[in-house]
Amino acid sequence: MSKRYERLMKCYESFKAKIDFTPEIALILGSGLGDYADGIDIRATLDYKDIEDFPVSTAPGHKGRFVFGYVNGVPVVVMQGRVHYYEGYPMEDVVLPVRLMKLMGAKVLFLTNAAGGVNWQFECGDFMLINDQICMAPSPLIGENLDEMGPRFPDMSEIYSKKLRDIVKKSARELDIPLREGVYIQLTGPNYESPSEVRMVRTLGADAVGMSTACEAIAANHIGMKTVGISCISNLACGVSNRPLSHAEVQETADRVAPLFKQLITASVTNIAKEI
Ligand code: HPA
Repeated sequence: MSKRYERLMKCYESFKAKIDFTPEIALILGSGLGDYADGIDIRATLDYKDIEDFPVSTAPGHKGRFVFGYVNGVPVVVMQGRVHYYEGYPMEDVVLPVRLMKLMGAKVLFLTNAAGGVNWQFECGDFMLINDQICMAPSPLIGENLDEMGPRFPDMSEIYSKKLRDIVKKSARELDIPLREGVYIQLTGPNYESPSEVRMVRTLGADAVGMSTACEAIAANHIGMKTVGISCISNLACGVSNRPLSHAEVQETADRVAPLFKQLITASVTNIAKEI
């Protein structure tokens, strides 16, 4: 058994000893969305600190717990607060929760984040369905392979499931919520980008830039979880806007559009569950 799998099993045993719940869909909530979990039909919660060997997030605006419950009757596990690479954790720790949620039973990973708009057409407060990604942070699969869960050299030709993307688009249309589409690029952070870096990532084909998500999506694909992701464009990236960037601005926008974002997530989760 690989060391990675052994550690993961330790976390899983810790979860099993405390929680009796099988989620179908796993959700990771980005900045401003943390309280989505408070509004679902909650059946149990589990603080990260109570899971043996589990990394604990330190980012402001992020709580640290799993919430188990139902969204319109669909069993979900929600990560209220994610683990970021910029906090200093190795990538193995950053994606451990994704692997753990797969072991819990989740078949789908639903990712959300706040991101900077790189595409000139984007406006602050827009939602962007992620249709592909560029991961400029180290791959979470470097090192010993988790042979028990996925192949050494996994395919990444459809990281964000076309079928799930179509369901999210349909859900947005039904709610009359405008939805952009584009490529998400993950840089390590925690600094925001310079104007030249934003120009670089635009040249590379990115529409939005952030500090999470892509590594989680790689880990999910590796272990056969269907993945879908939506970015909230919380600010225009440096050089797109001529104002200095702050976490307060990111948080303020994310908070402002959170009610609409929550509606889109609820509708998407409900529709996805019907089709998986
Ligand atoms: N850059 C990187 N990460 C971010 C941004 C940004 O502009 N906004 C929110 N997360």
